[in-house]
Amino acid sequence: MTRGKFILIEGLDRAGKTTQVNRLYERLSPNSESMKFPERSTQIGGLINEYLTNKSFQMPDQTIHLLFSSNRWERQEYIEKTLVTDKKHIVMDRYVYSGIAYSLAKEVDGMDFDWCFGCDKGLIRPDMTVFLVNSKSNDNREGFGKERYEQKCFQEKVHEKFDITFQKLATKDNTSPVQIIDVTDKSITEVEELIWKVVEPVVGAKSASNQLLRF
Ligand code: TYD
Repeated sequence: MTRGKFILIEGLDRAGKTTQVNRLYERLSPNSESMKFPERSTQIGGLINEYLTNKSFQMPDQTIHLLFSSNRWERQEYIEKTLVTDKKHIVMDRYVYSGIAYSLAKEVDGMDFDWCFGCDKGLIRPDMTVFLVNSKSNDNREGFGKERYEQKCFQEKVHEKFDITFQKLATKDNTSPVQIIDVTDKSITEVEELIWKVVEPVVGAKSASNQLLRF
């Protein structure tokens, strides 16, 4: 078998990503690994965790953006080893698209798309990205947690910026496709099946080589 496939699940807060990452990981098991960003267990991840959970912990928007990106860079060797050497699939919870969309949503002067994408250029690119959209997830504020960014109006802006990010990072030959799945009013199992329908052909296809895609 050639290298494993890199499947990314993206979405807003409370879109049900984590549940679906676990379901897909189990479905592909034992030939899979699940990962998530931010990866809070590293030193950089510890700073990110502090920033997200402690609103009095101040940091310039540029700095936290670069930390999120560094957090992805520090796991590249592991991602490459998993896909190429171990030949396992990776099911990932958040990655580059979240990095850009959440920072763009802050609308900070100078932090435009090119600035935000610059530090992620060269990262290993997913073979497929699934974006989960729940049009009702913002209706009820009670479901939001206490972390930074978990507010209705900010999430609406993030959604808009995700769309822009997908358009800007689309490849002409569709080598790294993005599938948008509407999960509104659907059960966990229904969403799981919708995801499997788009992921199965990707994980089932043989790669011509071990070469990885890059942003
Ligand atoms: P996450 O741990 O996935 O939280 P949740 O499980 O609630 O979705 O992500 C924490 C927050 O970090 C989330 O609001 C999105 C944000 N984020 C960024 O701002 N930039 C990034 O690069 C990443 C990966 C996440």
